[in-house]
Amino acid sequence: MTEQRLAGKVAIVTGASRGIGRAIAERFGAEGARVVVNYIQGGEGAAAAGTAIEAAGGEALAVQADVSQSAEVRRLVRAALDRFGRVDILVNNAGVMVAKGVLETTEGDWDRTIDVNLKGAYLCSKEVAPVMIRQGAGRIINVSSNSGLYHPSAMRFTEYVVSKAGLNGLTKAMALAFGPQITVNAICPGWIRTDMVEEIDPETQQRILDETALRRWGTPGDIAAAALFLASADADFITGELLIVAGGRGMH
Ligand SMILES: NC(=O)c1ccc[n+]([C@@H]2O[C@H](COP(=O)([O-])OP(=O)(O)OC[C@H]3O[C@@H](n4cnc5c(N)ncnc54)[C@H](OP(=O)(O)O)[C@@H]3O)[C@@H](O)[C@H]2O)c1
Repeated sequence: MTEQRLAGKVAIVTGASRGIGRAIAERFGAEGARVVVNYIQGGEGAAAAGTAIEAAGGEALAVQADVSQSAEVRRLVRAALDRFGRVDILVNNAGVMVAKGVLETTEGDWDRTIDVNLKGAYLCSKEVAPVMIRQGAGRIINVSSNSGLYHPSAMRFTEYVVSKAGLNGLTKAMALAFGPQITVNAICPGWIRTDMVEEIDPETQQRILDETALRRWGTPGDIAAAALFLASADADFITGELLIVAGGRGMH
């Protein structure tokens, strides 16, 4: 049997009922982590992720919590500690995107996107960091986006881009604040085939492929592999970085 890279670790993955978060939760479980699978509505998906983790010999706990609400975030972290006694890895993955231009979006779209994508990561990190500092080590991985680094064809989704640019800044601010015990990094995926991008029109989809050096969409597994690297001992000396995983789309 190959060595499990996260053996003994406890991970919280937000928004892990489907898409990228679920792939990360299942990959971490397969690498020996005990995983808290967070969701907001997708109880069935979260349960299925837990079943897959346990079938691979791991342990999982599904917890419903809205990451944009501080009381719910406190409950999420408390549930992790009650069940597993520690938290080694936090993946701030939960996210929403409204595919509208700046003049079409509503104040409600703006608030929800910023609240989930940016404030959610802030609240979860703030709750978990003292635990990790007490333990003497920890990893925070923010699932940001290539669009937060300025990519012209993503600029339509205004508040989404703003939320991810903010998350990139938060990544660096927290890396400075939480060192030396905790590393904080972000992954900036390009377009990944999940529910989030289902509504993108065919013309835009073709343009995305044409702009991508590897001429394919990313998969949730591509992002899970990057998250595993950042969570593993191989990334011990990496903090405050933005890792672009985009098949060569929007190279910087
Ligand atoms: N797909 C892409 O092309 C792409 C590209 C760059 C970055 N990303 C980022 O990757 C992350 C995951 O995206 P995805 O494509 O996997 O999206 P997805 O398939 O739409 O899944 C979103 C996940 O977030 C959860 N969620 C939404 N609001 C939440 C809240 N308030 N509290 C807790 N969980 C919440 C959802 O839970 P429920 O199932 O319970 O609703 C779901 O598990 C996001 O941060 C996204 O911005 C995606």
